[in-house]
Amino acid sequence: MALSTELRDDLSAVPAAPMRLYVCTTCREAGDDADDPAARAGARLHAALIAEPADPVITIVPVECLSVCTRSCAASFAAPGKWTYVYGDLPAEQAARILLDGARLYAQTGDGLIPWKQRPAALKKGVVARVPPLPGAA
Ligand code: FES
Repeated sequence: MALSTELRDDLSAVPAAPMRLYVCTTCREAGDDADDPAARAGARLHAALIAEPADPVITIVPVECLSVCTRSCAASFAAPGKWTYVYGDLPAEQAARILLDGARLYAQTGDGLIPWKQRPAALKKGVVARVPPLPGAA
């Protein structure tokens, strides 16, 4: 069920629901060692994400390529019944906290639409696509 406009403005009042944070581990930045997969920017971002304290509603899932390769690093938020968001242009060394903060807000929405004013700046600038929920997936 979608949240009312009033609730969207105050997500702190909404219980969080499980969601997935997909992170591309194969994204590269200029200067990355092409022969060392663990040194790639996406792998570094994934390592930074899993080094943060775990949030029980956020499942971090490493994936190989989100088809946003020209806008490295890339990640996505998804959950049943919610809009899926894909983000790019995420800085490998700083994006972990940004993504986790954004994911927590996403988990607190009923439909996946984080109020614009509450979105971290990197997620406002880095949004690549949003995809509607599958019918019957709520
Ligand atoms: S390699 Fe990361 S999106 Fe393609």
